[in-house]
Amino acid sequence: METQTLIDIFKEAGQGHVFRFWDELDESQKEHLLAQARQIDLPLLKKLIDQEEEALKADAYDWSSITPAPYIAHPSQGGTSQPWEEAAHLGEEALRAGRVAAFTVAGGQGTRLGYEGPKGAFPVTPIRRKPIFQVFAEKLRTAQERYGVDFHWFIMTGLENHEATIAFFKEHSFFGLEHVHFFRQGAFPAVNQSGKLILSAKHSIAMSPNGHGGALKALVESGATQTMKTLGVDIISFFQVDNPLINVIDPAFIGFHLSQNSEMSSKMVPKSSAEERVGVFCSEKDHLRIIEYSDFPESQAQEKDADGVLAFRCGNVAIHTINRDFVERLGGHDASASMPYHYAKKKVLCIDSEGNPLAPEHPNGTKFELFIFDALTFAKNPIVIETERAREFSPVKNAQGADSVQTCHDDQLRLFARWAQAAGVDVPVDESGLPPFSFEISPLFADNETTFVERFNSLDPKPEIKEGTYLE
Ligand code: UTP
Repeated sequence: METQTLIDIFKEAGQGHVFRFWDELDESQKEHLLAQARQIDLPLLKKLIDQEEEALKADAYDWSSITPAPYIAHPSQGGTSQPWEEAAHLGEEALRAGRVAAFTVAGGQGTRLGYEGPKGAFPVTPIRRKPIFQVFAEKLRTAQERYGVDFHWFIMTGLENHEATIAFFKEHSFFGLEHVHFFRQGAFPAVNQSGKLILSAKHSIAMSPNGHGGALKALVESGATQTMKTLGVDIISFFQVDNPLINVIDPAFIGFHLSQNSEMSSKMVPKSSAEERVGVFCSEKDHLRIIEYSDFPESQAQEKDADGVLAFRCGNVAIHTINRDFVERLGGHDASASMPYHYAKKKVLCIDSEGNPLAPEHPNGTKFELFIFDALTFAKNPIVIETERAREFSPVKNAQGADSVQTCHDDQLRLFARWAQAAGVDVPVDESGLPPFSFEISPLFADNETTFVERFNSLDPKPEIKEGTYLE
């Protein structure tokens, strides 16, 4: 498209101000601005600005038709063991056949953690301070040995951390893995309170990652799904970058997904309280959907069932098994247009009228994001299975407080202590299961309790578990 035509289209859309420093820009800056402008879907942006978020929310749910989602209970919580064993067997077959790839969404900005650099590079383990990416890589290496296949690991990066993420992997020789694929997610512009695009520099429009739901389109457009197809991969093990406890490859989860003919399956943990800030799995008519905690009415959140347990208890932990062909279908241009955008008021770096940089102290813009779990509404036979929080969910979201570096550190220690106790080691713990000292078990030594017990008990002499012990 001609430069002038593009500028005119922006003017007509009331967004011509993004070119106001045009005459001051050098050629490469002009190219940058034009490339950004070409990427922006102005009609979609207008639609989103016109729709008020409140109106969106009010339209979103018919509360009378919303019921708690059914789920497959974990054996540790009263579920029957046999189907889990059968599912694990089925999942193992798919794993050995090379049908599964790992996929991490790592395109977020990690603003709450406030760490300079990709979140996956954040040091997270108690003794060795291993970065989260290394923890995942070691789990994948252990799974490779177990199932006799080389896993392909797809990592979605964001606008700002793509190069840094790849550089980090190169610096660490890809943590011993051979097949790591990186691709960038899409971006979407932020707008100010008046619905105007924001300039982050004279030649640059403020863009932000389009949410983890952008993964569907990015998987298709980057060619990742095509690569998977060529490799014979038809099942994607999806997880977020901020949860080091995740079982990156889980045969039982994959097995249930297959046996139920599900296109997109999810794990849940029972909510710790009605107030816990996680999305909740619900059924709405024939659909499964996740409703965000902020949208959930207090009365429903508090509702108890006949057993006195929270009725809406299925907390979303953002762990999914997804069919590749479902991604291909939904990530295609037209279909993904039906996923809703969510609005977030955030601080957006901008410039003043002279072009000087400004770091706002308060939220000055709205960002628009797609969420992966909105895909559930479009999936056939979506199932939810229960997992144990202690085994699989301790996200690093914040620098301090809940879901922080400290809580994740403690949760790792609790898990390690539990495994050690299962192997007969007398590790002292407090009432929350936390030992009074730090030690670490590498996923290369064991990635679950059963394996730990076997390996530990085969050691002669057995190492002492004390402050600083590291097992690999
Ligand atoms: P969060 O919702 O926690 O967002 O992402 P975030 O950007 O990492 O952190 P804050 O909110 O700025 O503090 C959950 C997961 O989704 C990924 C993140 O990398 C993380 O794995 N994500 C999020 C993306 O891949 N892209 C996005 O646009 C947003």
